[in-house]
Amino acid sequence: MDSAATAAPDRVALRGDLLDFTAEPAWGETASPAVRFRADHWLMIEGGRIAGAQPGSQPPAPGWRCEDHRGRLILPGFIDTHVHSPQIDIIASYGAELLDWLNTYTFPAEMRHADPAVAVRGAEVFLDALIAHGTTSAVVFPTVHKVSADALFAAAAARGMRLATGKVLMDRNAPDGLRDDVDQAERDCVDLIARWHGRGRLAYAVTVRFAPTSTPAQLAMAGSLCAAHPGVYMQTHVAENEAEVRWVRELFPAARSYLDVYARAGLLGPRSVLAHGVWLDDADRALLAESGAQIAHSPSSNLFLGSGLFGWRAAREAGAAVSLASDVGGGTSLSMLRTMADAYKVQAMAGERLTAWTALHAATLGAATALGLEGEIGSLEAGCTADICIWDWAAGPVAEHRMSLARELHERVFAWITLGDERNLVAAFVAGRERYRCGGMTTDGASSRAAAA
Ligand code: GUN
Ligand code: ZN
Repeated sequence: MDSAATAAPDRVALRGDLLDFTAEPAWGETASPAVRFRADHWLMIEGGRIAGAQPGSQPPAPGWRCEDHRGRLILPGFIDTHVHSPQIDIIASYGAELLDWLNTYTFPAEMRHADPAVAVRGAEVFLDALIAHGTTSAVVFPTVHKVSADALFAAAAARGMRLATGKVLMDRNAPDGLRDDVDQAERDCVDLIARWHGRGRLAYAVTVRFAPTSTPAQLAMAGSLCAAHPGVYMQTHVAENEAEVRWVRELFPAARSYLDVYARAGLLGPRSVLAHGVWLDDADRALLAESGAQIAHSPSSNLFLGSGLFGWRAAREAGAAVSLASDVGGGTSLSMLRTMADAYKVQAMAGERLTAWTALHAATLGAATALGLEGEIGSLEAGCTADICIWDWAAGPVAEHRMSLARELHERVFAWITLGDERNLVAAFVAGRERYRCGGMTTDGASSRAAAA
């Protein structure tokens, strides 16, 4: 297997239109000083990191391997802050709301990942698919089985990817074969943290499936793990669906709200990633802001499972961080372009206008910042790891036609987001190493460059 330890090609220069952010764009602003668009520039990559950028008219010195992508977009790789690796097995399953969907499709599919061969192959297929959609970092749910977390960590290490994951905790309200118990789960987490957390680009995430599938004792254990290992993340679901919220109220009558269940267990902090948050109130939003926890907004999942319309603007106005997530397999695509386009539609239904800038920022620098990784991923700033994607502005005749008429930058980028998907992806680099090019995974740039030439 290809090893992340293998050195990246030392000096690579990519020429194209560079697009990233230097800050968060203001809500509703289509002309924002936070947007950094550098038309026709060279992006310089050295030793797997971004070394800088220079105008296209200034060619790199001899010794740099140059790739000319004039007329294409060059962006930081996308960050998907909430996605389930085993659920590509059941993506696009018909006709159920959250709780039925879990019982009918999700739990049976996740059971198969107890088998190490399924877990290992599943992790590899999943991570290759993420990269082929332009996503180079992710916060991922595997399954309750320790082997599924091990497999994901190993596959991410082999690809040099920045990934946060952890064995799913669930000790009640789930079928046989998908439940753990507090003591064994704690031993498994401690072992996984010792072996993977902080190794290369990997981080452990204490992974509580959601409040209904953990006993209070397990939630308390998860909170103790977070306290004992301050660098780890915590990921879970919150307030996704109305029936789920009612169930949590019955299960935890002493809690003020669903979010408060996690607060009481010591699970809210700046490294907490909570998917959905559709049914939050003002007190919840204030608690998110105070704790520094982020909402991983998952629009395609919220539409597909009929869960509801997320109040993005209210969350931001309260000071809560919001990132974007595919939530596959409740979500219907790994593409963060499609995710952004769905986010726009969700906001339109809620009477709001989501700019291309707010959406794109949430999938890049915004997510990186919410994860405490803004110096490392999510932008084209010198010093960041070179997780880079090259995109065609248009794929197919309608997008090409639309692009030929678009003038102003926001108009062009909004159309790119709305009409684009993984078919627009030309190449993906992870830590400076080419991992995907024009329709196929690559483990070494040389062969595919030859093919592309
Ligand atoms: N809540 C608990 N588990 C899940 C899951 O797998 N997907 C979604 N969308 N919500 C959940
Ligand atoms: Zn989810």
